[in-house]
Amino acid sequence: MRSVRIWPTPCDRLPLTDMHAETCSLPIGVFDSGIGGLTVLKALTEALPQESFVYLGDTARLPYGTKSARSVTRYALQTTALLKDRGVKLLVIACNTATAMSLDALHEAYPDLPVVGVIRPGAAAACRASKSGRIGVIATENTVNGRSYEREIVRLRPDAQIFAQPCPLFVPLAEEGWCNGEIAELIATRYLGSMVENTGIDTLVLGCTHFPVLSEAIQSVVGPDVTLVDSAWTTAEFVRDMLARRDICSTTASRTLSFLATDGAERFARIGGVFLDRPLQAQDVEIVDL
Ligand code: DGL
Repeated sequence: MRSVRIWPTPCDRLPLTDMHAETCSLPIGVFDSGIGGLTVLKALTEALPQESFVYLGDTARLPYGTKSARSVTRYALQTTALLKDRGVKLLVIACNTATAMSLDALHEAYPDLPVVGVIRPGAAAACRASKSGRIGVIATENTVNGRSYEREIVRLRPDAQIFAQPCPLFVPLAEEGWCNGEIAELIATRYLGSMVENTGIDTLVLGCTHFPVLSEAIQSVVGPDVTLVDSAWTTAEFVRDMLARRDICSTTASRTLSFLATDGAERFARIGGVFLDRPLQAQDVEIVDL
C-alpha cells in the first residue's frame, strides 16, 4: 500500500502563558464507531510523538455505516461531548461515516474546538496517488451514499472520475480480526472481483478506517497495479498542520495514550492490538457510558 510518511516537526513557537502551556499539554481526542479508527491513531502516534491521545471506540453502537444520519450525528455529538469533558484540545473523527454525516454538526456545536475529519485527507492522498484520475472508493453504505469523497476528490482534481462501491461486510470482518485468508478474500472477491475490469481504476481509496487491516485481501483481488490509499498518514499531516497553525503543539517529553470504549474491553484490547500493531490489555480500556 502506498502511504505518505510524515516526520514530526517541532512547533517553532513556545507557549507564552501558563494557560497556553496547559492547552498545549492537553490530549488529542480521536473517535470511531469501533476499533477501525485505531488505524488512524497508529499513524497519529507515530507522526506526532510528543502528543497525548485519548481514543474512544463506540463499540456498543457499531456499525455506524448502516444507521440513519440522525442517529450517527447524535452519537458523534455524544462522543465529542465526552471527549470535551476529558479536556481534548483537538478532535479527530477517525471514522469516514461520522465525518461524512456529522462534521458540519460538530463544527456548529463546538465552534472553538478544532476538528479534523478523515475524508478530505483521504481524498488528497488519492489525488496524489492516481495517475489516470480514475479512482475507486470503497466505504460503508452511508459514506458512499453521502458522496463526500466524490465532492472532495473533484474539488481537488476536477478531471477525476470516481467509482464508489459499498463494502459493509468488511466492517464486522475487521472487528472480528479476520483480516486475511479465505473468508476475507471471498468477500473481497464478491465486492471487488470485477471492479478494476469494469472501471479501469488505478487507485482505490479505503474509505473506511476498518479497511486498512484488510489491505492484503483487497490487494490480492484488485491486483498489484492498483494503488491502495487510506487516509491515516494524510490525516496525521492535517493534524500536525492544524496544531502548528493554532500554536497548540505539545512540548512535553512524556505523553499519555488512553483507550475508552462503550462496550467489550476484552474484545477491544484483543482485536485492537492487531489494528495498533502492539499488544493491548483489557485493563488498558476504560468502559464509558454515553
Ligand atoms: N470505521 C468507520 C468508517 O470509517 C465505520 C464503520 C461502521 O461503523 O460502519 O466509516
